[in-house]
Amino acid sequence: MRILFASSEVHPLIKTGGLADVSASLPQALKRLRHDVRVVMPAYGSVLDKAGDLEQVATLQLPGFPDDAVTLLSGTLPGSRVPLWLVDAPRLFRRAGDPYRAPNGHDWQDNYLRFGLFARLIEHLALDRAGLEWRPDVVHCNDWQAGLAPLMLSMHESRPATVFTIHNLAYQGLFPRHAFDALNLPPHLWHYQGLEFHGKLSFIKGGIGFADHITTVSPTYAREILTPQQGFGLDGLLNHRAGVLTGILNGVDYREWDPGKDKHLVARYSADDLSGKARCKAALQHHFKLPCHSGIPLLGHVGRMVAQKGVDLLLKAAEPLLAAGEAQLVVVGSGDAALEQTARNLAQRYPEHMGLHIGYSEPLAHQLEAGADIFVMPSRFEPCGLNQMYSLRYGTVPVVRNTGGLADTVVDADPEHLEAGDATGIQFDEATSQALADALARALALYHDPACWKRLMLAGMAQDFSWGRSAEAYLALYKDLVS
Ligand code: ADP
Ligand code: GLC
Repeated sequence: MRILFASSEVHPLIKTGGLADVSASLPQALKRLRHDVRVVMPAYGSVLDKAGDLEQVATLQLPGFPDDAVTLLSGTLPGSRVPLWLVDAPRLFRRAGDPYRAPNGHDWQDNYLRFGLFARLIEHLALDRAGLEWRPDVVHCNDWQAGLAPLMLSMHESRPATVFTIHNLAYQGLFPRHAFDALNLPPHLWHYQGLEFHGKLSFIKGGIGFADHITTVSPTYAREILTPQQGFGLDGLLNHRAGVLTGILNGVDYREWDPGKDKHLVARYSADDLSGKARCKAALQHHFKLPCHSGIPLLGHVGRMVAQKGVDLLLKAAEPLLAAGEAQLVVVGSGDAALEQTARNLAQRYPEHMGLHIGYSEPLAHQLEAGADIFVMPSRFEPCGLNQMYSLRYGTVPVVRNTGGLADTVVDADPEHLEAGDATGIQFDEATSQALADALARALALYHDPACWKRLMLAGMAQDFSWGRSAEAYLALYKDLVS
């Protein structure tokens, strides 16, 4: 199979969240299954610095973008054998800041041009119009940033099959009407059955409405987005397309996320010998200047600080535990200024019990996975979630809300599952700080029963969420579409 995989972020080149992890590991897993998969992404300035040797393979003038000659650079995704194409349009992509936002935190005003051009380029590659003599069987587009590509391809008679993956329905790529005009899209598409969404241009509708098949990143989320509560206004359209919508659970790249090999840790460990985990906990406590007690349960959280992740629920539910000295808490993340401030206030009130890192830190994310006893993910919604799967492998028991991929990957330690020995964490239902506080109380009670806790840890460490199975599921889908 020849697969063109299009994404706006790919680890280790650039990452704002799980999309980057998936966009690195899934193509590598497909490659291991001996398929000809190639990744295409924008050539942000920081990506050019990290991508290694690059060769200029084409120069294109895309229709509708007279101001931007595009150079296509060819290389290899670092750490893999996956061919990589970088879309170099310097005026649009070589900027400071992250892929979507300026350094002041506001979205780039011309994101519709940036990702409109990205979609045009994907279309041209897919139709072998860049002079590369390679034509994919399937084009796999991810999230709204690549959302217009399935639409553009749908207008061609002879074209590859298209798959669109929703990693997060909350981010839709909505722009004012002038963006639609600027992109020279066919006028009939300004319609609720086209790209119009409540008076705005919706990039994600280009994927959801026009791809041959739609996937999302867990079976439970695939059902949830069909409801008005979780459909973000698109549940009508998604129900209309439910026949071609499936949920495929993300995997974990255990070459990056394995406590037995993790280069970010002071000590490595495995299910056979957990002593290194205690050293990782001490190192984490030391890093955050917390008392180095081995017996006090350490709660951890890593994530984007946005309403989705429920970090506000965690800060509220944890406060009484910090006040009573019953637990320590370490939080690593950044995002909404108000949430960051709430976290800072709590850390200032309990410096002896709480550690906080506002910002992005790959090493700290690994060190926290290893050093914490309990990983808390009280997400209001979670399409898949990767950190709970990392936690399982690191013997760090996850406490998660019963939603999306969290529901699909964690088995609640209720009496029945404890008895059966297959419990791996704690789940709770309501998105309230009280429900989370109750779940944390259950977790702490189990923590203080060492034999039971160890069984939970080991059951989690034995779980296998490697990419192989998910990659097979994507392949089966691709084959189906091509035949
Ligand atoms: P999402 O994609 O919604 O952010 P996921 O759980 O799928 O959630 O993936 C988040 C990824 O981003 C994980 O690999 C996590 O470790 C990482 N991450 C998030 N915030 C930070 C941070 N502040 N520092 C380091 N890694 C982070
Ligand atoms: C999104 C989701 C997250 C998912 C990730 C990768 O950012 O919020 O749940 O794991 O994409 O698919």
